[in-house]
Amino acid sequence: MATATVHPNIALVKYWGKRDRDLNLPSTGSLSMTLSDFATTTSVVFGAAQDEVMINGELATGLPASRVLKHLDLIQPDRAPARVVSTNNFPTAAGLASSSSGFAALTLAALKALNIDHTPAQASILARQGSGSASRSIWGGFVEWRRGVKKDGTDSHGLHIAPPDHWKLNMVIAVVDQGQKSVGSTEGMLRTMATSPMYSAWVSSWQKDLDGARQGILDQDLEMVGRAMEASTLKMFATMFTSSPPIRYWRPASVAIQDEVSKLRKAGINCWWTMDAGPNVKVLCEPEDAPAVADALQHHVEDVHTLGVGGHPVVEE
Ligand code: PMV
Repeated sequence: MATATVHPNIALVKYWGKRDRDLNLPSTGSLSMTLSDFATTTSVVFGAAQDEVMINGELATGLPASRVLKHLDLIQPDRAPARVVSTNNFPTAAGLASSSSGFAALTLAALKALNIDHTPAQASILARQGSGSASRSIWGGFVEWRRGVKKDGTDSHGLHIAPPDHWKLNMVIAVVDQGQKSVGSTEGMLRTMATSPMYSAWVSSWQKDLDGARQGILDQDLEMVGRAMEASTLKMFATMFTSSPPIRYWRPASVAIQDEVSKLRKAGINCWWTMDAGPNVKVLCEPEDAPAVADALQHHVEDVHTLGVGGHPVVEE
């Protein structure tokens, strides 16, 4: 039996689109900040009477259960039946990156329970195959997921670019809707790739955003990170809006919050927004500005969380 507690991450430069669906190889590189406070805790024990997956206190069936069990098969093909118990202390599958911490925690707990020696990069490659963004939750702080060029995906994994204490940034999250998202990220990506005329522009223009965000993080230059993050976010949504049928996770409150961020910036507060596969808006700012940002967001939604930069996973026997 082993237990892993892992923080989710939010992409500052986005992953959207796969160059290999089975191996979850991305069409673009991406870069993230690991979040404090929010966490997934997953225990895995091999040698149970039969496979059983509990998620947030309920027996999982159908696709959520089969994704978990398939992931254990990937880690050890001739494994014994397993019992998996996973809990999130934040909303699941609602655009708050629960799949990033979920598959990273499952990977790390299973590797430990099986006593499989591994490097963080090897854990990241396994986590990536459960959910792409999970490749980045193997570390705290700031993490880049290299796109890689190899067909077998051995060069497509996370790279730790700065530790949790490198920069005290805050991410203020406005929960516009706690519900499960209408279109899952894999379905959304596949539809975008197949139908959006903007997809090729997305795939040919990400490197500049990634280089800008990475440099901004290393230099602790929030404006540089923010500009790259908003550019990457808007380009990703441009591909979704122009898919057929279109994918539009935004709600009126999401747009109102984007306007609020522009207003705050005009008033001299250095803050920048991003969104993922859901209606929630995440705003990056310095800790000294977080109370003013949270206050402004509270005019639009009830549920606002101010989070810092999260630490590394904790894995225990
Ligand atoms: O890893 P997935 O399949 O949950 O996809 C994540 C997609 C985005 O959250 C929209 C972007 C990202 O890089 O996390």
